[in-house]
Amino acid sequence: MKKILVIHGPNLNLLGQREKDIYGQITLEQINAQLTKLAEENKVELNILQSNHEGDIVDSIGKAKSDGMHAILINPAAYTHTSVAIRDAIAAIDIPTVEVHLSNIYAREEFRHKSLIAPVSYGQVSGFGVDSYLLGLKATIRLIK
Ligand code: DQA
Repeated sequence: MKKILVIHGPNLNLLGQREKDIYGQITLEQINAQLTKLAEENKVELNILQSNHEGDIVDSIGKAKSDGMHAILINPAAYTHTSVAIRDAIAAIDIPTVEVHLSNIYAREEFRHKSLIAPVSYGQVSGFGVDSYLLGLKATIRLIK
């Protein structure tokens, strides 16, 4: 069975409480439940990780292939705009990475308009709430099947 590593970056553990006007009421558990259902319907396996720590995210990307992952779906959250280390980790591996965001990062503050991750990602989905994750997962599944 094909395996996909799903990475949620910093503060996404606070979804449901955090800036609800931007991110809505949905919790990370609810997002993960919807992703897991879609994965089961498509007969792929997910390994899901949430971390507030850049180094943990870098480590998990670096060992994704040896852990048997075929692709990565990532919402790098605030690290999208700051992390050369996550960008370089993605560039270093030869499995595809798809970037997702709940909000439309291009319609928000200027510092969010630049993604360091986009140039090393296969593609990006931004602005559709939980559907960004579901569309991103569908695209990722198609890439590896
Ligand atoms: C986010 C957008 C980022 O700019 C922000 O720092 C987040 C969440 C999103 O999913 O919309 O934490 O990645």
